[in-house]
Amino acid sequence: MPSPHDTLLAPSILAGDHANLRSSLKVIEDAGLEWVHLDIMDGHFVPNLSFGPQTVKAMRPDSKLFFDVHLMLDNPQLYIDAFLDAGADQITIHIEPNYPVAETLGYIKSKGCKCGVVLKPDTPAEDAKKFLPACDIVLLMTVEPGFGGQNFRQDVLPKIEQFDTWRAEMSLNYRLEIDGGVDLEIAPLCTARGADTIVAGTAFFKAADPSVFIAAVTA
Ligand code: DX5
Ligand code: ZN
Repeated sequence: MPSPHDTLLAPSILAGDHANLRSSLKVIEDAGLEWVHLDIMDGHFVPNLSFGPQTVKAMRPDSKLFFDVHLMLDNPQLYIDAFLDAGADQITIHIEPNYPVAETLGYIKSKGCKCGVVLKPDTPAEDAKKFLPACDIVLLMTVEPGFGGQNFRQDVLPKIEQFDTWRAEMSLNYRLEIDGGVDLEIAPLCTARGADTIVAGTAFFKAADPSVFIAAVTA
């Protein structure tokens, strides 16, 4: 079913230049895009470390991009204030760790920031259904979180359709975001199933001509 939202591309700066993230933000802005996807990793929930709120705060003044912050943390509830202070426009939190997910969504929203839940590829869609009314966005991982450059997991495609169906059945308006291994060929498989927000790290920053990728994703 077509999404109620225009399709947009959110480049993951994890695939950017970590010695000069400001230049990677400029690549995104020069491509005429509006979102940047910021992957925050704690080395516990995922076996990798990326960057924290101080880095996000340092990027904030120079950029008008929408900061889509993806928290891959065991205890995201402990870091919400830090990322709000850093200038996050949206914070998405995984439902797998054991912490008060609903309360954390409510807190993010109470501070005027958009919020949503994230599911790893093997997490059943049903596990997130009760949180949907509180969500501005649902982020479906199509790779095991922790690293960019992995292969897209086609077995997640039915889950995209499930959240698209629930969005219509429950008269909700969340964005449906796909994250991990998305490239030129994969993006249409996702948008055809109702996805409207495409995260891409490798396929964007390693593209010879990002405009070709952008056109394919947002067609
Ligand atoms: C992985 C991150 C993804 C990743 C996407 O844990 O959440 O956002 O950076 O990168 P690509 O598009 O290279 O798979
Ligand atoms: Zn991500």
